[in-house]
Amino acid sequence: MSMILNKNINPDRPVQLADGVFWVGANHPKNLPANPYLIVDGAEAVLIDGGSRPDFSTVMRKILQTGIAPEQISHLIYQHYDPDLCGSIPNLEQIIARDDLRIISKKENNPFIRHYSVRSQLLCIDRLGRELVLQSGRRLRFLPTPYAHSAGSFVTLDETSGILFTSDLFGSISRPRGLSLFAEMDEHCLDCRDPWPENPEEVCQKTHDVCLLTGMHLFHREVMPCTKALRHALSVIFSVEARMIAPQHGVIFHRKEEIQAMRRILESLEDIGIDHV
Ligand SMILES: [Fe+2]
Ligand SMILES: [Fe+2]
Repeated sequence: MSMILNKNINPDRPVQLADGVFWVGANHPKNLPANPYLIVDGAEAVLIDGGSRPDFSTVMRKILQTGIAPEQISHLIYQHYDPDLCGSIPNLEQIIARDDLRIISKKENNPFIRHYSVRSQLLCIDRLGRELVLQSGRRLRFLPTPYAHSAGSFVTLDETSGILFTSDLFGSISRPRGLSLFAEMDEHCLDCRDPWPENPEEVCQKTHDVCLLTGMHLFHREVMPCTKALRHALSVIFSVEARMIAPQHGVIFHRKEEIQAMRRILESLEDIGIDHV
């Protein structure tokens, strides 16, 4: 499958990451930018980490712009239960309007997801054998990343495209270089040994932009509970060969050298969550 990347992306449109895989996120000015993803497979579609209530109208507009009808969405996947993923569940259920719509998460998340006024059947990845096989045979694999950051957190590998959807893991509090959706790390960033500033808005003297590494460090330090949980999650992520890492916040990583640089940097962090207190 060919990767279809367009650096001159229009953030007001869905962005195609691979055949049938789209970023359908919103850049709400007051909110932490989130990245919902849509997989279109024949007549079937799956939405991953669908987004917040304020983002719903933008996300749904972009879903429609991919050319599908809402009722083609057969499954909603939620890799944990935060409002930035799950807030629009009632809106999605209403517009999809399918009695057989399935919501997939994990048993530790599901009692909380119920509080979003869910009326669809709510399934656990463990009871599904940690995979979802679509009508075409396309397989999505679910890999638990416990306590990174929720007890029931997991990541999802689309075997067809090789894209790993990592939810908050590999996330960042900002997107450097304006609205660019893809990581653009130059030589300096790939081998950076500078101390990262505490202020995510501070501009790097070498790249003349806000620092992606600062945004990622601060995000993981604040969102993940401890270093051990992050390192375990990284071991899960790198137990599979992903061609692209697509987090729920920040930028998408598609170059091998950038993925490896981020692996080295994230694995080296020791001040995550309670370990920073
Ligand atoms: Fe979260
Ligand atoms: Fe999040």
